[in-house]
Amino acid sequence: CGIVGYIGTQDAKEILLKGLEKLEYRGYDSAGIAIVNEEGVHLFKEKGRIATLREAVDENLTGTVGIGHTRWATHGEPSKVNAHPHQSTSHRFTIVHNGVIENYSQLKREFLQDVTFESDTDTEVIVQLVEKSLNEGQTVEKAFRQTLSLLKGSYAAALIDEKDPEKIYVGKNKSPLLVGIGEDVNVVASDAMAMLQVTDTFVELMDQEIVIVTRDEIEIKNLAGVTISREPFKAELDASDIEKGTYPHFMLKEIDEQPVVIRNIISKYKDSDDKIQLDGNIREAMKEADRIYIIAAGTSYHAGLVGKQLIERLAKKPVEVHIASEFLYNMPLLSENPLFIFISQSGETADSRGVLVNVRKLGYRALTITNVPGSTLSREANYTLHTYAGPEIAVASTKAYTAQMAVLAILAVDTAKAQGYDIDFDPIYELSLVATSIEALCDQKETLEKLARDFLSTTRNCFFIGRGLDFYVGLEGALKLKEISYIQAEGFAGGELKHGTIALIEEGTPVIALATQEHVNLSIRGNVKEVAARGANPCIISMEGLEDVDDAFVIPSVHEYLTPIVSVIPLQLISYYAALHRGCDVDKPRNLAKSVTVE
Ligand code: G6P
Repeated sequence: CGIVGYIGTQDAKEILLKGLEKLEYRGYDSAGIAIVNEEGVHLFKEKGRIATLREAVDENLTGTVGIGHTRWATHGEPSKVNAHPHQSTSHRFTIVHNGVIENYSQLKREFLQDVTFESDTDTEVIVQLVEKSLNEGQTVEKAFRQTLSLLKGSYAAALIDEKDPEKIYVGKNKSPLLVGIGEDVNVVASDAMAMLQVTDTFVELMDQEIVIVTRDEIEIKNLAGVTISREPFKAELDASDIEKGTYPHFMLKEIDEQPVVIRNIISKYKDSDDKIQLDGNIREAMKEADRIYIIAAGTSYHAGLVGKQLIERLAKKPVEVHIASEFLYNMPLLSENPLFIFISQSGETADSRGVLVNVRKLGYRALTITNVPGSTLSREANYTLHTYAGPEIAVASTKAYTAQMAVLAILAVDTAKAQGYDIDFDPIYELSLVATSIEALCDQKETLEKLARDFLSTTRNCFFIGRGLDFYVGLEGALKLKEISYIQAEGFAGGELKHGTIALIEEGTPVIALATQEHVNLSIRGNVKEVAARGANPCIISMEGLEDVDDAFVIPSVHEYLTPIVSVIPLQLISYYAALHRGCDVDKPRNLAKSVTVE
């Protein structure tokens, strides 16, 4: 979910709606805003997108203070009733909240027996508790702090008080939240992007802090009421990066941006002698570690799998890759001197953050590879490597994934060098070839659109197979396809399909096979024969030098370590066109959110 707040001199509703549009990537099940003016609080909420909310908001409403929310449902189905903002029984207090209150039913039982709840959400508990404390004689600020100290779980929340419309109360724990500062205006947002329209100066909040935001002041306090001072920072974001321009979808724009992103990474990570040079502390940490633990979710996890291969092959260091949400509750036995690498496009994924907090408590060091340098995972780790992909808006990750793999290749090379290995792999040269190859692929959209039409326009399911690095790319290809086209897609190791899943192969089932790895080229082609013999419709994507006459698509030749960065491009484009042909909402697929800030 995402939240925004505005207190200034302009039309709050328009600024809040624009802000929510920028936050829609965080969830879009339902949305709402509340504006407070001299007549009181005006509440609008709707199930569905911000566009639906926009239609419902009274155009003539004036007001310069308000809060807003876009939701990704956790507790309670997506509906108008469960949409935020939520109000206390007397309607004096109105709140928006991102996060999960884990002890909400306990709090209800213990403190709010007499209250009738309107929604099924955990959020309503917060606003009712504030009202209860107030009725017991507390000031609003104290009631707010006291309420927050009762909560277990995560929250980024903004509260307005009908009786004192010149203030927004804000609180944060685990969920991201920033306060933006302007002249005669202050704002609140889950993400700087939402409020770049007002200011580029922000103050970050730490866990268990509140802020009292007025038009010309912000006051940060801890939950005990002690004032905290903190310097603001300038958000280094270009507002034009977050517009689609002439593209029909962000996803297509972001696919096309990949050559530029790879070149950007090269220029950021090379020194004046055209050599890779990472921060000395990172180099040392990698060198000292006896084992690397990569932690990530979704697409970033798939990049991690490729990273493992690169670090093990080039730097000869053992690497384990773990799904963050699993590691969180099932920590494996650790080596004596581990280093943790968190890979996260957003730097905000709650599952990954949960692991980071735990391993830091255990005294281990952590490196975050992220596209958002000021993000929570970046701030809370010891070191950060930036992926320089620019804001990624489409929910399905494309350029952030290829950027992560490019940075992992650089890290692997740097670590190899730190250990004194003489390696025959120049990442700058090889990545430049990768950038050029991606460019060539982005020019073949028509061919890939046709492939999507031929193989995927009516199918119910689709399998991706590959061996070694190709297997990992297959996992990502399957994820892309299911995320945006809703075709049931699964990635398998080429040799594993026959041990069970081959039972699902029917006449015409599409099987997309990747063949870019020389040492397994014959074996994967053998696997394709096995499925073809059972009626499958194979689509082989191979690489120049390894191709065969029947291959459906051939990518330009690049170094065998870097093939994932190139072979994923046709898979991204095939998924894009499959989703388009099926009439799906490419940039905002159902049930998903780009940044999942709840565990
Ligand atoms: C969400 C998104 C995925 C993404 C995953 C991890 O589930 O829908 O596309 O890969 O989070 O996100 P991160 O920002 O940590 O890379």
